[in-house]
Amino acid sequence: MNLETTYLGLTLPHPILPGAGPLTGDLRKVRQLEDVGAPCLIMNSLFEEQIVKEQRAAFAAIDEAEDSFAEALSFLPEPEDYCLGPDEYLSRIAHIKAAVDIPVIASVNGISPDGWREYPQLIAAAGADALEVNLYHLSADKFESSAEVEERLLESVRAAREGIEIPIAVKLPPFFTSIPHFVSRLEELGVQAVVLFNRFYQPDIDIEELRTEPTLRLSTSAELNLRLRWLAILHGRTGLDLSLSGGIHESHDVIKGLMAGATTVQTVSGLLLHGPAHLRNLVDGVIEWMHEHEYSHLDQLRGCMSHQNAPDPEAIERGNYAMVLHSWTAD
Ligand SMILES: Cc1cc2nc3c(=O)[nH]c(=O)nc-3n(C[C@H](O)[C@H](O)[C@H](O)COP(=O)(O)O)c2cc1C
Repeated sequence: MNLETTYLGLTLPHPILPGAGPLTGDLRKVRQLEDVGAPCLIMNSLFEEQIVKEQRAAFAAIDEAEDSFAEALSFLPEPEDYCLGPDEYLSRIAHIKAAVDIPVIASVNGISPDGWREYPQLIAAAGADALEVNLYHLSADKFESSAEVEERLLESVRAAREGIEIPIAVKLPPFFTSIPHFVSRLEELGVQAVVLFNRFYQPDIDIEELRTEPTLRLSTSAELNLRLRWLAILHGRTGLDLSLSGGIHESHDVIKGLMAGATTVQTVSGLLLHGPAHLRNLVDGVIEWMHEHEYSHLDQLRGCMSHQNAPDPEAIERGNYAMVLHSWTAD
């Protein structure tokens, strides 16, 4: 069975990748992932120090100005809990590269143009085989239009792209008015892939304690459908590789992602819930399903359920929307 896949210029034995997350923080887990057949590793993101400083400043400012609302910011995690400093991050790339033979994709999340230029260069110099640029952005400024937000994000990607030769994937949030247009702008900038999508971690409210709670719920397969829709729309309409992130828990999820048009799929919650060896289950499950359904190569199923040959995907989506609403019946 041939599952070989080219992603970000890397030839991989199969398309199921461990996504950016905490597993690469532990060298034993990293080796375990390689042993169970991970075709590459995606590291958790390096967060620009600037973000950390701004978060500290935001805490301090609100503590002083509006003491009674200080608890409303309790959802901000302590930076030390999730941020590796740049030096530690760069040496972790070197340690992981020394520990495994598979390609290592680093990830960066920055905000200032300087940060976006500087860190990708340092990461490439540290030996990463490719870079995921993690655009995690929530617009809260009523004076900044969506077009301006998009320009700013594109500027960040341009800054990251300029200084390095290694391939770049851009991990997107799902909240754009026109994802195909934004993806085509990314393609013009010379990136190689987009990752659909970043998950937003939405704080819950504790109504007794009057504070917000950081809720990092792991995903379920229910998150898959949003990804499937956009993959189906983008497949065949962009030259970029498409990587699915969000809701891959079972081998059937992988098959759906590939049918919608994913070049690769990534899984994080699935591996955190079931352990790194779950990656092998996913690969075996895909192979078994392909045997049963007489597929011998992934290209036979990749994109077969996309809108590639539909002249008007918007009309299909409108039709589906109406059909779904009318199909509901009370039990
Ligand atoms: C504990 C945890 C840490 C994560 N850290 C990062 C990160 O550093 N950078 C990043 O781009 N995504 C990060 N993610 C998001 C995942 O890469 C992924 O996009 C998201 O969890 C959806 O995939 P899943 O449904 O397979 O979990 C993290 C996810 C989890 C659960």
